[in-house]
Amino acid sequence: MIEGIQSLRHLKQDSSWSFSNLSKKETNYASHGYHKYPAKFIPQLVSKLLLEYSKKNDTVLDCFGGCGTTLVESKINERNSIALDVNHAALLITKAKKTAINPNTLLNQNNLLINQLSKLKIKKNHYLKAHPRLKYWFKEKQYNVLMEMFLIVKKVKEKRLRIFYECCFSDILKNCSIWYSKSIKPMRDISKPDYNPIEMFTQHLNFMTSQNKEYYRILKDKNLKGITSSIREGDARKTGLHSDSIDLIITSPPYAISYEYADLHQLTLLWFKFTENMNSTKQKFIGTASGQEHFSEEITFLAKKIVSKLSKKDKSLAKQISRYYSDLGLVYQEMRRILKKGKRACIILGDTEYKKVKIKNTEVSIELLRNSGFEVEQVIKRKLSSKTFTPYRDQEGKFTNSSHGQKKKIYQWEYIIIAKKQ
Ligand SMILES: C[S@@+](CC[C@H](N)C(=O)[O-])C[C@H]1O[C@@H](n2cnc3c(N)ncnc32)[C@H](O)[C@@H]1O
Repeated sequence: MIEGIQSLRHLKQDSSWSFSNLSKKETNYASHGYHKYPAKFIPQLVSKLLLEYSKKNDTVLDCFGGCGTTLVESKINERNSIALDVNHAALLITKAKKTAINPNTLLNQNNLLINQLSKLKIKKNHYLKAHPRLKYWFKEKQYNVLMEMFLIVKKVKEKRLRIFYECCFSDILKNCSIWYSKSIKPMRDISKPDYNPIEMFTQHLNFMTSQNKEYYRILKDKNLKGITSSIREGDARKTGLHSDSIDLIITSPPYAISYEYADLHQLTLLWFKFTENMNSTKQKFIGTASGQEHFSEEITFLAKKIVSKLSKKDKSLAKQISRYYSDLGLVYQEMRRILKKGKRACIILGDTEYKKVKIKNTEVSIELLRNSGFEVEQVIKRKLSSKTFTPYRDQEGKFTNSSHGQKKKIYQWEYIIIAKKQ
């Protein structure tokens, strides 16, 4: 039990929540490995929270749904679920991951598709009409092949099959571009080999097909009658969901100034024409560098202290963090509104550091949650596995990976805040 915020410093790690014994294959079981996604949950962690804090047929929300880990785990555990995200790439991936397809139906359609791809001819120079940003990322030859492949995928009539292939296509885009694959940030690698898009697609399709088979087998033994999984574009600050309607929230907000989700998914966002204008798309995301920059008055005592220390090092960053905390406050108020009385929100997040200023997101969240009318019942400290999450930060405070540039190991711990609506 956390009595005072100060006691967080002395919190001991709880190894039962670290899942360090699990292999990548295990954490990517069923449909969880369909698509790369930054900072995605370990499904076993979500499942443990579901079993602890909800029962069958309850309704579970992830208002920062990402690639749909909570939604898939809710389905496997026979809970209704809702996933919201502002990122259309996330919504596409979640739609594909939600549905288990009859393995024989899938194999038949795969054969047809692979046959079509093997006969593929480049009919036009699609590159001439490409979005300038896609021209920046793709070589002409690869772009043209990818576009012909995409047109074939788009013609698949059955929606759930088409979404499955679109997800596969989206996943290979980075590999088939000159995106520097070892970097978490958008960086070009002019010397990158030209991977064959058809080979990449076929390889990933085979992997997804075997994952689907496993997922299908798991779901076959479940009682999913009446269980719903709903995926919507939505903003965690204003979900549009009914008051007192949710039994459990399991979610992880974006980590401030760490990942620029819109930038990271720009290939999918632009390719699928989810957006034409990256700048306006970025404004919808919280925890990003873009958007209006001003100091917010609506933040807590600790938040103000952090912002004031930061503004001595970097005023613009201080404004971003101030806005991030003010946004988190809105999210927690919204969570309180939509949760049923006595039900819980499980919020997973971590702290960071910039030029020796500790950015204590967890403690600020505890303050914000209490101010919103939650009782903070428990805070669990878990060790992060570098297999699933990079603990490194670069000079600007953004995530980087260990093989790249000057970096600092910051993220070692993650916290799970269990907050109850009183
Ligand atoms: C840490 S990730 C969540 C990952 C997720 N737990 C999973 O397993 O895939 C945070 C997510 O928040 C989304 N996001 C950012 N701003 C948002 C907003 N205002 N409303 C809803 N989602 C938002 C991002 O697109 C990103 O997918």
